[in-house]
Amino acid sequence: VSKEVSMMRKAHEFASDYFHHLLLHTEEGENALHYLEERGFSKEIIEKYKIGWSLPKWDALTTLLERKGMDLQEIEKTGLIIRKENELKYFDRFRGRIMFPVFDETGYVIAFSGRILEKNENEAKYLNSPESPIFQKSHVLYNLDKARLDIRKQRNVIVFEGFLDVIAASKAGIGNGIATMGTALTSTHITKLNRLTSNVTLCFDGDRAGMEAAKKASTALQAHQIQTEIAIIPDAMDPDDYIKNYGEEAFRTKIIEKPHSYLSFMMIVSKRDKNFNNENDTLQYIQEILEILSDRSSSVERDLYIRQLSQETNVSEEAIYQHLRKIQGKQA
Ligand code: CTP
Ligand code: MN
Ligand code: MN
Ligand code: MN
Ligand code: MN
Repeated sequence: VSKEVSMMRKAHEFASDYFHHLLLHTEEGENALHYLEERGFSKEIIEKYKIGWSLPKWDALTTLLERKGMDLQEIEKTGLIIRKENELKYFDRFRGRIMFPVFDETGYVIAFSGRILEKNENEAKYLNSPESPIFQKSHVLYNLDKARLDIRKQRNVIVFEGFLDVIAASKAGIGNGIATMGTALTSTHITKLNRLTSNVTLCFDGDRAGMEAAKKASTALQAHQIQTEIAIIPDAMDPDDYIKNYGEEAFRTKIIEKPHSYLSFMMIVSKRDKNFNNENDTLQYIQEILEILSDRSSSVERDLYIRQLSQETNVSEEAIYQHLRKIQGKQA
């Protein structure tokens, strides 16, 4: 690798050791450690993911790097430190945050995501490293380094929305989970996954944003001929919340092992904000589902779903079939 890449890896390794040490072995790290314990993080998990803490100071890491004799002008390219305007001075990017190292596929730390302890209006909940020669956000799949073997063995990968969901799932014995770094699933991500398996389970947050993201991701995956199923978390919870509320066993048996087909997922999502006593809602629901069905060639599938549509809405199967033919006529 180039000199620049090896310098960046070295700086990240140094920083992750430092943050990890602060969290586990110093008084300054105690609050953060308690926060993590409250959220159910064991020592084992903290070690496995090398979680850390950055001091709420302007120059803690900067000073340390300088004392190590590192070239700050070079280190700035890693995004770990930021140069002051019109000065040759630097300060820490991450201050007072729980530090989650982002590992690349071979296990090198290439970036950080820092979470604030308490939510507040002035600061983003997560602060990520900026793009750099070793970190391209739209290429990274969090946990792929640790999940690769499990993905191959189980011939399936579970895609979560947040990396904390990946960690919670891993604690629940689910080792084939990964997450994007807060971006949509890109074709680069999909290509990477496709090399390992052609079966994907999406397990996004159960809120509106998560369901919308799951729609987009499943469309993108299907365009790459990947078998896609969607696990749905109820009541707008995310996987981490669900595990906290109902336990690991329920998460495995009721959520992860009972994913929905794309059509069944779309029916559930579409139904959520509709009332079948309302004519417009009913029509819109039938229209939305038939538009998906009209692209499908299987007559068995059509039969099954049209029966279900009819039962749900009280519209006759015959009328629904007629409407389907009308939609198909328009497409032809
Ligand atoms: N994210 C981000 N910046 C934010 C909010 C979210 O980069 N301000 C990304 C993070 O990668 C996060 C993912 O989007 O993992 C999902 O966001 P969210 O569901 O809000 O976070 P949670 O994982 O649920 O975090 P927490 O439980 O700590 O609230
Ligand atoms: Mn340690
Ligand atoms: Mn979310
Ligand atoms: Mn979430
Ligand atoms: Mn969460």
